[in-house]
Amino acid sequence: MAQDTCTKCGGSGWVVERRGELSGATRCVDCQAATAAERTAALLSKANIPPNYRKVDFDNFRIPNDNPIARTLLSQAMVIIRSYAREYPVSSKPGILLVGPTGVGKTHLAIAALKAIIARGIQGTFFNYQSLLDKIIASYNPAAGAGRRNAYESAMESDVLLLDDIGANRSIDWVEDAVNSIITYRCNHLKPLIATTNLYDPEFGPAVHKLDAAGFAGKQATLSDRIGERSRSRLFEMCRVIKMPQVEDYRPHVVDRWG
Ligand SMILES: Nc1ncnc2c1ncn2[C@@H]1O[C@H](COP(=O)(O)OP(=O)(O)O)[C@@H](O)[C@H]1O
Ligand SMILES: [Mg+2]
Ligand SMILES: [Zn+2]
Repeated sequence: MAQDTCTKCGGSGWVVERRGELSGATRCVDCQAATAAERTAALLSKANIPPNYRKVDFDNFRIPNDNPIARTLLSQAMVIIRSYAREYPVSSKPGILLVGPTGVGKTHLAIAALKAIIARGIQGTFFNYQSLLDKIIASYNPAAGAGRRNAYESAMESDVLLLDDIGANRSIDWVEDAVNSIITYRCNHLKPLIATTNLYDPEFGPAVHKLDAAGFAGKQATLSDRIGERSRSRLFEMCRVIKMPQVEDYRPHVVDRWG
């Protein structure tokens, strides 16, 4: 949308240029920039990113100095996630699954990736797994608002879906079916999913196990225990697994994000 205040085109969105006898109109570059920025801002405002994560990005993700192994592994993970966002859409495996213990920056990096993808004009939505389930449950109440009913649809249809903390709670069977249908639908329609989990899965292999099996939420509960075998295998089918190393929980270092 052209801006009334634009000094280059006066708000028409077109700049008339003369070349000798000829004059032609070209799109105003300033307004084009404004249009792209406006689109990104509009997409971001609808992305459902929680307020306390709105400011996170790749630039404010800190790599620790004190632990060389963690430093290497964490920067490798960040580089992979960053290039995923830069090269999006990626055809081989369209999504990513960030796995690792609590407080190591999974949600931070997943949101950084979502925001970077949105900045390229692509529509994306964040859902915390538990709150999506709550919304699905509430939507079965006839008095539920349209917002609640739409959550399920939006998780299905969003161009990119970030499903955070997948499997965080054991869900009742029909809710598991709902999650399964979201994952299956997205998988069938090649709609990318960015997901995070702190649950363990044998697929993560010994490297992550040796480093941080203890850090995973309750070693006994696995991904398939929580989301079911079908969702689990769809998840691996569509997502590249990115293992986050055991680093010190970053939460105590989080500076004030209220401002
Ligand atoms: N390496 C990091 N640099 C900067 N902030 C971080 C880093 N790791 C985590 N955080 C911050 O710490 C808090 C917890 O991280 P989060 O991404 O929620 O962890 P996880 O999802 O792995 O449990 C968030 O506020 C996040 O922005
Ligand atoms: Mg998280
Ligand atoms: Zn203009």
